[in-house]
Amino acid sequence: MNVLVTGGAGFIGSNFIFYMREKHPDYQLICLDKLTYAGNLATLQGVMNEPNFQFIRADIADREAIYSIFEQEKPDVVLNFAAESHVDRSIENPSIFLETNVMGTQVLLDACRKYGVQRYHQVSTDEVYGDLPLDRPDLFFTEKTPLHTSSPYSASKASADLLCNAYCRTYRMPITISRCSNNYGPYQFPEKLIPLMIANALANKPLPVYGEGLNVRDWLYVEDHCAAIDLILEKGEVGQVYNIGGHNEMKNIDIVKLICKALDKPESLITHVTDRKGHDMRYAIDPTFIHEKLGWLPQTRFADGIKKTIQWYLDNRGWWENIISGEYEQYYERMYGNR
Ligand code: NAD
Ligand code: TYD
Repeated sequence: MNVLVTGGAGFIGSNFIFYMREKHPDYQLICLDKLTYAGNLATLQGVMNEPNFQFIRADIADREAIYSIFEQEKPDVVLNFAAESHVDRSIENPSIFLETNVMGTQVLLDACRKYGVQRYHQVSTDEVYGDLPLDRPDLFFTEKTPLHTSSPYSASKASADLLCNAYCRTYRMPITISRCSNNYGPYQFPEKLIPLMIANALANKPLPVYGEGLNVRDWLYVEDHCAAIDLILEKGEVGQVYNIGGHNEMKNIDIVKLICKALDKPESLITHVTDRKGHDMRYAIDPTFIHEKLGWLPQTRFADGIKKTIQWYLDNRGWWENIISGEYEQYYERMYGNR
């Protein structure tokens, strides 16, 4: 089996590559990544020289490059993790989100149509459903919840999902989609809530909580997400959307306090800063469908996952300190300087 993983030098894609290496050592894995600010070859160091692994640097929106890679590599399966993934950056500059997340998905779908694949899987997000109110804990996102996006990021991801549905129906292509809740775990770029708070706390820097910090996210350990995608590849039904989440809702402020406690840092580091524009209040996935149809259940409890994650950031300081000392420094100043 020849498996093409786009965005494999990023957070979830790299964890997926590690997961697949263990689970299906006989698969030929090709990681295709543009290596944007969020892609990091250091992450893939451990697999780079393995015989069943190949890295190709390319942009999913570059039609010529993508067609020639498909012509040469003839992937059986394509998993699209590649995306611009940070909501705050999408608010600052939406264009690249449309180029990569929408046009890039279209190029990949066209390539799959032209060269033929057994499966194209689109890695999407629960953010396509918009948000839920805080005072209705009985409400959850199901696969039937209408798309109702808030940010340029979620709008671009929803657009890509609609394209996938259209290609599946019109051209009868073997497409599946998964919509997962917030992930956490090793190799997450330190612009996202959990790694940013760990890195800042370790440096005794302010911990910038947007608004009151009452927004709720539904956190899933990244390996559980990877296992769900693998299951969808093996047993998922073409044309189907699968929601992935583990019923682990947490307020942002509680996550930040938990990180302070785990690192023995004072809560006085917490600084409430100007809220994100259009900030979604609550995300919450109902994972009944994937559980009943494919037997998926998360394996990692949040208490264990966050402990492992914090330990990973302590043990791998070089990985994220390298990132923080580069272009990221200017980004941080721009985003948080006068917030
Ligand atoms: P990430 O930002 O850490 O990684 C994205 C990767 O895609 C990087 O390696 C980057 O170099 C690559 N990339 C970006 N533009 C590209 C292009 N034009 N061509 C080729 N490669 C390109 O993102 P992530 O958190 O790992 O998210 C992966 C996928 O999962 C995304 O599609 C995202 O929407 C989705 N998702 C993420 C979460 C989450 O909590 N992080 C939750 C649900 C869904
Ligand atoms: P983030 O990790 O950016 O994921 P998403 O916006 O895709 O859910 O943010 C998670 C939550 O944390 C979100 O409600 C915004 C909030 N947040 C902060 O309060 N401060 C920060 O510095 C960041 C990056 C996020």
